[in-house]
Amino acid sequence: MCGIVCYVGKKKAQPILIEGLKRLEYRGYDSAGLAVQNGDHVDYFRAVGRIVELEKKIHDHDITGSSGIAHTRWATHGEPTEENAHPHTDQEKNVFVIHNGIIENYQILKSKLQKNGVRFSSDTDTEVLAHLISKYFDGDLCEAVRKTMSKVEGTFGIAVIHRNKPGQIVVARRGSPLIIGVGKDGNFAASDISAMVRYTNKVVHLNDNELATITEDGFTISTAQAIAVQRDAETVEWAPEDAELNGFPHFMLKEIFEQPETLRNAMRGRLEQGEGVPRLGGIMPVWDTLKECRHIVIVACGTSYFAGCVGRYIFEKLTEIDIEVELASEFRYRKLNFPHNTYIIAMSQSGETADTLAAIREARRKGAKLLGIVNVVGSSISRETDAGVYNHAGPEIGVASTKIFISQLTILTLLALLLGRHQNLSLTEGVEAIRALEVLPEQVQTILSEANHIQAIAEKYYHYNNWLFLGRKYCYPIAMEGALKLKEISYIHAEGYAAGEMKHGPIALINPDMPTVAIAPKDSMYDKMINNIQEIKSRKGLVIAIGTEGDEQLKEMVDDFIGIPPTLDILNPILAVVPCQLIAYYCARFLNRDIDKPRNLAKSVTVE
Ligand code: G6P
Repeated sequence: MCGIVCYVGKKKAQPILIEGLKRLEYRGYDSAGLAVQNGDHVDYFRAVGRIVELEKKIHDHDITGSSGIAHTRWATHGEPTEENAHPHTDQEKNVFVIHNGIIENYQILKSKLQKNGVRFSSDTDTEVLAHLISKYFDGDLCEAVRKTMSKVEGTFGIAVIHRNKPGQIVVARRGSPLIIGVGKDGNFAASDISAMVRYTNKVVHLNDNELATITEDGFTISTAQAIAVQRDAETVEWAPEDAELNGFPHFMLKEIFEQPETLRNAMRGRLEQGEGVPRLGGIMPVWDTLKECRHIVIVACGTSYFAGCVGRYIFEKLTEIDIEVELASEFRYRKLNFPHNTYIIAMSQSGETADTLAAIREARRKGAKLLGIVNVVGSSISRETDAGVYNHAGPEIGVASTKIFISQLTILTLLALLLGRHQNLSLTEGVEAIRALEVLPEQVQTILSEANHIQAIAEKYYHYNNWLFLGRKYCYPIAMEGALKLKEISYIHAEGYAAGEMKHGPIALINPDMPTVAIAPKDSMYDKMINNIQEIKSRKGLVIAIGTEGDEQLKEMVDDFIGIPPTLDILNPILAVVPCQLIAYYCARFLNRDIDKPRNLAKSVTVE
């Protein structure tokens, strides 16, 4: 949830660290801090609020050191105050630590330290790390961190410097992401490639229970048991401009507008019209067992979960596979009883979501096989699954996920199509699906060209405090995702419902002050949706319909209409979600919300 960035090299560290923090701000943003070392002098600053507050604080200081650590925080233990911001230090201010994760046994450790006279200056779990490292330090910082690791339970990605060890940064990981970046004029460590992508695209992933010592000239990795590890750097494909706004006012809008390209990236090299069978190289290592599989469980959180819910309908349509979708946070606590040859698909943008990781670990224990659908290459989920498919969507910075959602839907469709074609799905159906997939990017482009129309609708409705989103079958999860987008970034209360359930409750809410977004493309559920819309209109409810372009009947019935191009039933969700994203975006903009960094949320939730 927090962001870590570190640099040691020839350049001044402070501007590199601040820039890295800004790129990581989406991971958490209630306070920030840095410690920059120059010989045995350490400049140390912390501030409550966004990175700009930290910048103001350091503005009049000449911070010359070329080695340092920096952190942006999303509070778990202790209020977002300056005392609780990272880095944390020991009493002598020799050790400086930044931490992402949760130290679960910190209370016990803290009491023991306090009994020995150690005074604490924050409410955080992290501070115990600083005192323990200080206690164990006898000239070897890496050893002191290793000993500390053996005492703590929980999850962490940490970075540590010591006043007596200039030019050296020790990092360690258990459960929270941490990568090393190998640059020309120095080396980096960060929770995420976006923090250092301007300087290097060569990265080394730390595994759980590994430590690394990073200097200007290189790095050494070892395990918690002090066994040396050799690992070469990998090259990542993300370009620096992927993490820039490129003229858009917000990353969310930029990412919504990137979606035609996101779809092309998800399908590039994977479509094969001739046989109607997509190619997914990443799953070939497990193909022999996967093609026999008759039971799949998709586990995910947040927006990725809603993509999984659409996936269930797609798999049911295209394959013979029995499919379930589970919130990872619930799945991990279930008593699992899988049929033989069950595959679990973990779907995650970041590949680091703690609940999703815990869910696949539990499933692995019970003998399930694991697939990943992940955006971040080399992330924990991608490494802990047997095989998988990457989204290749580039970084998603806006906290509210948009482009990854449609990428996930595309990949689920490709996977279902591939499996279906080895089961009962005919050549004609396979080819038809691939043709429909191929034109999706232009169809999304058509919807985006109507952004002004959607903005005008948002202007008309943004002052309403309660919204309902309705859909059926493939578009039921789109109703849930549409409601989630609206509440996440505009803070308007919204509920996503299966339209058939309306009469069992939500209809009681319908009145002229309650807009309903009805997702009603011309699919197999169309007539039923029309009935639901009539029920709302006869109770004087306001209806914004998302329907198939040219549907005059629907247009006549509702207050406002947004058209989407015609496509197959299974692909309607990919098109229908785009107006929902834009409605949420423009409502939030009219309400002057902090769209890319909505309150209390974080992009990557690496705590339970
Ligand atoms: C957080 C983000 C959501 C995201 C969810 C799952 O809650 O704010 O946008 O959908 O985590 O993240 P993942 O990286 O696993 O897809």
